[in-house]
Amino acid sequence: MINKLSATVLYASTAIKNVAKLSILTACIAMLASCASSSVQKPSAAEVLATIKGSFAERGLAKLDRLDQTEIQKVCSESLSSGKEVPKATREKMEQAIYAAIPYPKDGNYTGDWKEGEKIAQNGRGLQFSDVAGVPNGANCYACHQLTPTEISFGNQGPSLMKYGTIRGVKDVTSKDSEAIVKYTWARIWNTHSVNLCSNMPRFGDAGILTEQQVKHVMALLLDPQSPVNK
Ligand code: HEC
Repeated sequence: MINKLSATVLYASTAIKNVAKLSILTACIAMLASCASSSVQKPSAAEVLATIKGSFAERGLAKLDRLDQTEIQKVCSESLSSGKEVPKATREKMEQAIYAAIPYPKDGNYTGDWKEGEKIAQNGRGLQFSDVAGVPNGANCYACHQLTPTEISFGNQGPSLMKYGTIRGVKDVTSKDSEAIVKYTWARIWNTHSVNLCSNMPRFGDAGILTEQQVKHVMALLLDPQSPVNK
């Protein structure tokens, strides 16, 4: 009898617990639904920027203006956060405007010394808080690209650039036949957004990371038939 009674009590209390669980669950769902509908306000872009800026401090060469986005970065961030691609017409219009503004070398000479280019591609220093102003920056191309067969430490965020010039049939960078690929490569390195609006590659010329002469050296690394990239 006692056993039966305790079994009934146990059963009853389990049932009560289940009802309690169910009502907690219902309350949670109701709360979540109200959160999603109205109670939480999406912060404005200015509030987000102020919060981000508030969590960084300027140090050395690294200033807070780095957190200010260009118009392109704003458009691309918006596309990322909304999951909606930048409309084709807008993208092409913006790319074309950037491409048209690319400053090509005035002396008509697009390449320098591939040996210097290799040093720049290997060098990841520059623009960090601990760097000294006035020392030329590196480009760290290897952080994202494979370039030469001898360097086995490279990132793969970008495509392999091994045999970049050879594959594209560049035998002489100064010849008319190579003009299109030479200009494309210059534009790509100077301001990558000119060919791929939301590219993750740095704007080496446009953002003042590399000088015109340094871009010429990197161009030689990619295009000179004597460069190890093309061997
Ligand atoms: C932070 C990563 C990153 C760094 C650093 C970087 N790139 Fe890129 N690069 C990319 C990505 C990603 C792509 C391809 C996707 C795209 O369009 O942005 C690319 C594409 C390219 C292309 C176009 C390839 C083609 O087949 O058309 C060239 C050329 C290039 N990079 C050269 C360089 C050079 C030279 C350097 C150094 C001066 C460099 N990149 C540094 C990420 C990077």
